[in-house]
Amino acid sequence: MQSTTKELKEKALAVMDQAYSPYSNFSVGAAIRTKAGNIYTGCNVENVSFGLTICAERNAIAQAIATEGPTMVLEEVVITNRNSEGDSIPCSPCGACRQVIAEFAHSETQIQYEGKNKEDVRVSMTELLPDSFRF
Ligand code: THU
Repeated sequence: MQSTTKELKEKALAVMDQAYSPYSNFSVGAAIRTKAGNIYTGCNVENVSFGLTICAERNAIAQAIATEGPTMVLEEVVITNRNSEGDSIPCSPCGACRQVIAEFAHSETQIQYEGKNKEDVRVSMTELLPDSFRF
């Protein structure tokens, strides 16, 4: 694993501990690296009105935009998760997060998440969301 990817994974694991997930007991952490070379993190924040829950990936992206502004470009996204037993499960980003990542990514932006044998799965943006919606 490249040192920057290792750092992203460590940061995703750390921010995952901050998750507010009393309804699902499922914590998610995301760490992203931008073209400008900065790293941002986010965790999931649930709500009693379930539909208002915000995913970790989208929270991290909001942090990046708040700091770098609308020209922010994503180079790498690393996502971690833990269930109530403290285990990670196979978990790729949800459809909503894929579309939001695509908004700020390029075709070769790398997305890493935990696969079915707890291994790190790495895919490009095009692999994660082929033919994403664009005007
Ligand atoms: N979740 C994320 O944070 N990211 C995803 O890509 C999938 C789901 C969160 C939302 C909710 O708090 C919990 O995981 C269970 O769905």
